[in-house]
Amino acid sequence: MTYARIVGTGSYLPENVMTNQDLEKLVDTTDQWIRERTGIERRHISTGETTVDLAEQAARRAIDAAGLSPRDIDLIVFATSTPDKIFPSSACILQARLDIHGCPAFDIQAVCSGFVYALSVADKFIKTGSSKKVLVIGAEVFSKIINWQDRGTCILFGDGAGAVVLEASEETGILSTHIHSDGQYEDLLRVPYGIGDGFDQVRAGKGTVEMKGNEVFKIAVNTLGQIVDETLLANNMTKTDIDWLVPHQANIRIIKATARKLRMSMDQVVVTVNEHGNTSAASIPLALDAAVRDGRIQRDQILLLEAFGGGFTWGSALIRY
Ligand code: UT7
Repeated sequence: MTYARIVGTGSYLPENVMTNQDLEKLVDTTDQWIRERTGIERRHISTGETTVDLAEQAARRAIDAAGLSPRDIDLIVFATSTPDKIFPSSACILQARLDIHGCPAFDIQAVCSGFVYALSVADKFIKTGSSKKVLVIGAEVFSKIINWQDRGTCILFGDGAGAVVLEASEETGILSTHIHSDGQYEDLLRVPYGIGDGFDQVRAGKGTVEMKGNEVFKIAVNTLGQIVDETLLANNMTKTDIDWLVPHQANIRIIKATARKLRMSMDQVVVTVNEHGNTSAASIPLALDAAVRDGRIQRDQILLLEAFGGGFTWGSALIRY
């Protein structure tokens, strides 16, 4: 049996940091409210770097960590909702930057679940023998689609990029992935305008994130609870088999609810939301890279990745690291 095994991770954050105190100057909010309701203390905000700029750094670090060179990569799957251009895809722009030629490269748009979706697609390419060494990216410059006058959303998001290299291996790696979506909830979380209206509304400043946060919160907690059950059942595993939860970093209260459901101590949960905010598709690979590089995550441990986001989309991956 062929598995997709993680052989390298990398990440990159823009240098510029925006604290909760900085946000107090922009909107009617307080550091205390943001910490208590979200767990966020600061976030990195690009001062001109694009999604692909961030992704390139993360990708090079992941490829280096794998001991490979960019030319070894035979598939690029790039998750983002904030692509540099309408086309070419961010995957193709990155491919040219890395001086890779000829292999398939494409974007995936599943908002905050984008990385789990990309991992799921990459896993299937490896399992079917189509690809051997896959670069999977989650990268976003969400700050570009934020209404900086809306305190309900502008305090939540940050910019960043994370990447993994997957290699076909006889040793176990990704055990299963589970992805879902339900388009009926568009009104709760969306950027309401774009190409459809010829960019007229975007030019008028309306191309920004709209969210009914409280309603999203409740559905996210329930749905993530269900995906955890689905993932364990599919692998005939129990809660105690999981060594690390590497969740999408939207809100510390959502993360804690999932940890409680798994009866996991917060010591077994990789948390970056305090430092990064919600970086959408980038949040899981950023967290994964942090815990791999600081030695918390060790070879052979069982990792559960899970995400919920706009669409709605949601998903999980169970990995023997
Ligand atoms: O990653 C993709 C999926 N996204 C998510 O998972 C996000 C899910 N939602 C959330 O994380 C939370 O709902 C928020 C952090 C967005 C909001 O927290 P909440 O506890 O659900 O607050 P709320 O929306 O129910 O608002 C409570 C109060 C309201 O005031 P009133 O009506 O009680 O007087 C808001 O106007 O807090 C007010 N409020 C704020 N106050 C200070 C909302 N935003 C702020 C703010 N600072 N930034």
